Amino acid sequence: MPFTIAIDGPAGAGKSSVSRRVAQTVGVTYIDTGAMYRALALKAKRMHLGVEDHESLIPLVSELKIKFSPLSETYQQSLFLDEEDVTEAIRTPEISQFTSALSVIPDVRYGVVALQRELARNDPRGALLEGRDIGTVVFPDAGLKIFLTASPEERARRRVEQFRRLGLAADYQEVLQDQIIRDARDSSRKDSPLKAAADAVVLDTDGFALDEVVDKIVKLADERRSPIA
Ligand code: DC
Repeated sequence: MPFTIAIDGPAGAGKSSVSRRVAQTVGVTYIDTGAMYRALALKAKRMHLGVEDHESLIPLVSELKIKFSPLSETYQQSLFLDEEDVTEAIRTPEISQFTSALSVIPDVRYGVVALQRELARNDPRGALLEGRDIGTVVFPDAGLKIFLTASPEERARRRVEQFRRLGLAADYQEVLQDQIIRDARDSSRKDSPLKAAADAVVLDTDGFALDEVVDKIVKLADERRSPIA
């Protein structure tokens, strides 16, 4: 099995920026599992399906045709859904809420997890998967597991910055409230709730520069990949 890194944690903990840099530095493929759930949500939304439409949602998962581009030098990645570039369309607040609601459904998770495993196992370079349940459910035998956290206020502040960089209007209080709702749902769902694996390295990123967090994880990855005999 190729070397696998699991990076989990709540929204806004810095997972995405950290994961992309770590994947690029270590030389493994980056798999944004949240984007996979988002692509499914976008497809369902466009078909006017709701969370209650289980019968129609389940086949959508097995038909999901998604493709990630490799990371660019500036750590950007595009996501294609049925050949269409949906990189930005999956990031709206509406899709974020719908994704969170859809990802509670066990059959949806089952299908998306199977897709994640297939992507990672078929990649000889090894993979870094970023998500919520990678270290606990998707790859419980990952070579390195990281759980990234940060205070709710710091996480909301980072999200606002992210939205603004995308040219989207964002209100701090609204983002914070939205995040509290999503956190509660992601942590309390019966199937694969958000929690650190017992053997994960838990890193609180408050007050740490991005590079410091990245360096720490890259060092851990190097140690785990080539353990000293
Ligand atoms: O990381 P993100 O914000 O793009 O994730 C979008 C939603 O998908 C989030 O509400 C939680 C869910 N998700 C999940 O349940 N399991 C994952 N491995 C990744 C994301």
